[in-house]
Amino acid sequence: MPNVSDATQVDEGRLNAFIGQMLSDLGGASSTAMVRVGDALGLYKALHAKGPMTSAELAKTAKVDARYLREWLSHQASSNYLSYDPASERFSLPPEQAMVFAVPESPVYLMGGFDLMAAMLDNQPKVQAAFKSGGGVAWGDQAGCMFCAVARFFRPGYQNHLVSTWLPALGGVVKKLEAGARVADVGCGHGWSTVVMAKAFPKSQFIGYDFHPGSIEEAQAHAETHGVSANTRFAEGLAKDYPGKDFDLVTCFDCLHDMGDPAGAAAHIRRSLKQDGTWMIVEPMAGDRLEQNLNPVGRLYYAASTMVCVPTSLSQEVGTALGAQAGEAKLREVILKGGFTSIRRAAETPFNMIIEARP
Ligand SMILES: C[S@@+](CC[C@H](N)C(=O)[O-])C[C@H]1O[C@@H](n2cnc3c(N)ncnc32)[C@H](O)[C@@H]1O
Repeated sequence: MPNVSDATQVDEGRLNAFIGQMLSDLGGASSTAMVRVGDALGLYKALHAKGPMTSAELAKTAKVDARYLREWLSHQASSNYLSYDPASERFSLPPEQAMVFAVPESPVYLMGGFDLMAAMLDNQPKVQAAFKSGGGVAWGDQAGCMFCAVARFFRPGYQNHLVSTWLPALGGVVKKLEAGARVADVGCGHGWSTVVMAKAFPKSQFIGYDFHPGSIEEAQAHAETHGVSANTRFAEGLAKDYPGKDFDLVTCFDCLHDMGDPAGAAAHIRRSLKQDGTWMIVEPMAGDRLEQNLNPVGRLYYAASTMVCVPTSLSQEVGTALGAQAGEAKLREVILKGGFTSIRRAAETPFNMIIEARP
């Protein structure tokens, strides 16, 4: 067992490189609170709307204390989140950073990711206890507003890819949606995916099912705000026994791996589809082997999987706990068990794979 004094065991170059990584990691972790303060107080939005400002100018615009703001701005400039011009003492939000922090419609809006980091930290005591007991942490018992964070994190992906790329990648589905189809969005959470589809295809009828009552309420509110109540409905329902039938399309967005019994869900989804129907499964991007996922995307997903997805699945019956990095081969096994005969990867992004399954 090497100890601190055993200097011969330690390669100084590797040590320095690793300390460099740790500095960067701790800097990123410390940004969680800082970025969320900027979001909650409208600081990024003010800089985006009004352009470069001194600390005093932004304090006045955002109606916040000047001393706190100066410290926050200094952190943001040292993080490369804002740029600083020493000559004018003005801070600005570069257009690329604005896409991440200030433009919710942007495909790379990441504010939900920072909310997710905070919610994961809140969840630590419950998950830590579950490491000892082997039990789960139910979705509805997750700390903080995990549900809001997840919904905010995934929404930009749905807004930017679902109608333009993912649905057209499925055989014949867009034609049916344009003519008027019956669609179930299972595990719909706050319903952003349902709302995006309902807006794009007004002749189709959408129903979102989720077993979390709070999420169903939020989803209903979002449908009203976005003017799609006429062709959208939400109801509490388990993926393995929701009541609807004869669907042309069933969708599952980032939720199959969270389910306790994904194979049971697959079988029920198969029964609820028309014979020529389609099941679209959106799952986190992952290779089948651990060594394929040792990268920045895998790193984030394994953390979320440990703190959220595995505890959610283990809290339900069967408790398959596929994990957020299950990979296509394991997902295929589950889908085949449900009685589907044709399965293919229809599309992908760096974060998601889109699988089409047909009866
Ligand atoms: C990671 S969230 C994704 C939510 C939503 N689809 C989205 O993309 O924003 C997983 C969702 O699956 C739901 N869920 C998990 N297990 C379920 C089950 N057995 N039946 C129905 N919903 C379930 C949770 O309530 C949660 O809303």
